[in-house]
Amino acid sequence: MRDNPAGFTGGIPENYDRHLGPVLFADYARDLAGRIAGDRPARLLETASGTGIVTRALRDAIPGAHITATDLNPPMLDVARAKFRTGEQIDFKVADAGALPFADGSFDAAACQFGVMFFTDKDRSYREVHRVLRPGGRYVFSVWDAHSRNAFAASVAGLIKEHFPTDTPPFYEIPFGYHRIDPIKDSLEAAGFTAIRVNVLPIDKVVEDIAGFSRGLVFGNPLIDQIKARGGIAPEAFRAEAEAALRRSFGSPARTRLQAILVEAQKPAG
Ligand SMILES: C[S@@+](CC[C@H](N)C(=O)[O-])C[C@H]1O[C@@H](n2cnc3c(N)ncnc32)[C@H](O)[C@@H]1O
Repeated sequence: MRDNPAGFTGGIPENYDRHLGPVLFADYARDLAGRIAGDRPARLLETASGTGIVTRALRDAIPGAHITATDLNPPMLDVARAKFRTGEQIDFKVADAGALPFADGSFDAAACQFGVMFFTDKDRSYREVHRVLRPGGRYVFSVWDAHSRNAFAASVAGLIKEHFPTDTPPFYEIPFGYHRIDPIKDSLEAAGFTAIRVNVLPIDKVVEDIAGFSRGLVFGNPLIDQIKARGGIAPEAFRAEAEAALRRSFGSPARTRLQAILVEAQKPAG
């Protein structure tokens, strides 16, 4: 599929994990794991686990739980697997969040960090999590807030538009394009969830390795394939321009605010 926003394959997983992980995902992963740890789940499902950044935080925060970590893309899970020793009780499984290969009521809790935006049928994904949770089980997930609340993303999106005013690579619209709270709540309620709580989570981030961050922003997600498909600028030249834009906007080291939206919901008990 051209411009597949869910195509985290090839060299993307390594660049994602190394260059985006510490800046964009590690802090939020610890926060999410802490929220789930309070429930003391024995059987925990993670969807869109990617390279295992959240999985590692969940394992560390909830030592006794059996964790099933799933993702659509096997190359992301290959990077994740390498973060665990044998005996750490993680089952890795390739699975589409819209068609979970688990029996009804299999899990006490479910987690998903920055994955829902990529699910083609989000309502179906909520129904699937609801189905595989036991009554009383909780689903905790996060999405990114808008470009206007994540200036680093707006900066890259602006550069993309400058280089590709027509046939613009659409990737950067996807992860930052699913942040309206009421439609999310409506979808969760339609799937059967209750006790929905929403928190907006800003983080003021200092980025020392701006070259690395720019590498992650260009080579660590499907934008790289969308640039290559169009041609006209070498990916490395585009990355260098992204680095310069980040330095101009945010200084060196770069200081920028990230903002996520964290959603907690429950399957009614009994
Ligand atoms: C931005 S990454 C988030 C990874 C991880 N949760 C983290 O916080 O680092 C998005 C992930 O969603 C996965 N993904 C996209 N569509 C999916 C689907 N339909 N089902 C399961 N995973 C999917 C991608 O393969 C990718 O690993």
